[in-house]
Amino acid sequence: MIICKTIFNIYIDQEKNSSFTKANIVSNRVRFQLASDRMSEEWIQTSVRDYSKEINSRIIVVDKDNKVQLDSHNSFVGDKFYHDEIVEALKGENSSGIYNFKQSGRVMYISVPVIVNNKIVGAVLLSTSIEHIHDEVKHIWRKLELISGISMIVIAVIVFLFAGVILKPLNDLKNTINKVTQGHLEEKVNIKSNDEFKEVAEAFNMMITKLEEVDNQRKDFVANVSHELRTPLTSIKILSESLINQDTFDKDIYKEFLIDIDSEVDRLNNIITDLLTLVNLDKEKLILDNKVTYINYLLEKIVSRMEPIAKQKNIELKLILNEKIQIKIDEGRMQQAIINIIDNAIKYTQPEGIIEVELYKKEKHAIIKILDNGVGIPEDKLPYIFERFYRVDKARSRNTGGTGLGLSIAWEIITSHGGTIDVDSQVGVGSIFYIKLPLEK
Ligand SMILES: Nc1ncnc2c1ncn2[C@@H]1O[C@H](COP(=O)(O)OP(=O)(O)OP(=O)(O)O)[C@@H](O)[C@H]1O
Ligand SMILES: [Mg+2]
Repeated sequence: MIICKTIFNIYIDQEKNSSFTKANIVSNRVRFQLASDRMSEEWIQTSVRDYSKEINSRIIVVDKDNKVQLDSHNSFVGDKFYHDEIVEALKGENSSGIYNFKQSGRVMYISVPVIVNNKIVGAVLLSTSIEHIHDEVKHIWRKLELISGISMIVIAVIVFLFAGVILKPLNDLKNTINKVTQGHLEEKVNIKSNDEFKEVAEAFNMMITKLEEVDNQRKDFVANVSHELRTPLTSIKILSESLINQDTFDKDIYKEFLIDIDSEVDRLNNIITDLLTLVNLDKEKLILDNKVTYINYLLEKIVSRMEPIAKQKNIELKLILNEKIQIKIDEGRMQQAIINIIDNAIKYTQPEGIIEVELYKKEKHAIIKILDNGVGIPEDKLPYIFERFYRVDKARSRNTGGTGLGLSIAWEIITSHGGTIDVDSQVGVGSIFYIKLPLEK
């Protein structure tokens, strides 16, 4: 409605301006005749009536006493006019007004003074119908209504279509999330578009794949743990049942069986200790109690601790310290990692074997090399030895009491220090483990 009023006002202003110009033209034409009272019929015809027809307005001229001297329609000649506009014009002001008459409809009155020698001698009143402006504005308004109606329908259709296009991938994502939440980790989002949604979908799919991996690892881990715990428990059960079922009491058999039970209990205890260590390493990966430590002294301490165990198998345990190396490490944890590797070297080396522990620097790294001339590891098994519960020779490991957790613990500790662990091994020749720790940490 405001637009309608604005358009109407613009038209009215235009009409008013042009009417003032026309009224001034008439005022100019009549001023001498009005002053001299000489108005011939011919002059009236040409100057007023014809012009009135031409501009489509009624022209009325009054003298300074408000008396109508000229009327293009003739009917008011001699009457006295006191319209506001004429009164104003006779005071020297241009004036205008809009009226709505029952008979003639909407009309605009324009009035200007007639001036001769700086004196107001009368006024011109132009009466113009503005019905056509109303019709015009109404017409424009109807067109506007039609255009805005069509535009709204078009916008609604576009919004509807786009909403479908935009919401579909979001809906797909939501449905997949719901399925994943219910445990279907094999579900993937399938978005064909090539925009940000695709990137989100890809990131989401990667996340589910990772989750699936972690979930499988967890299942494997639980299965392995149960298996490892069950084996000693089964032994204990068999041993204790056979003791219970013995009718006679043979002290030696009892002692022998109880020694076996005791060693199975030790085994259970070791497995549980290792498992707890791994769980703690998972939890505290980033909370290392790092202190500047001389690795030389740490290795001396470890080797003297392991020597008695090596001696039992007549294995020579040598320590070669080439230089003093200081490094920031969690001493307790690092000691455990190195012990696990030396413990393997002793475990998997025949009696009379040799083990060398060597420390040296190489390109901003401290290297701890642990060499043995033991059974060695087949090349195809090397990639797996750091996995939890992995053992190359399960039968032999059982005799040596291994669970397959020692190296995974060592690996966790060394990598959490920003280091790496590598192996070189040859079956029947021996193995070399390299622990590589960054010097500047
Ligand atoms: N120095 C080595 N020589 C030969 N084989 C080795 C050596 N170190 C490790 N292995 C092989 O790698 C496997 C994994 O070692 P890891 O220390 O993780 O387990 P484990 O020694 O069997 O048991 P745990 O250390 O948990 O008591 C071992 O079972 C063994 O087969
Ligand atoms: Mg081990």
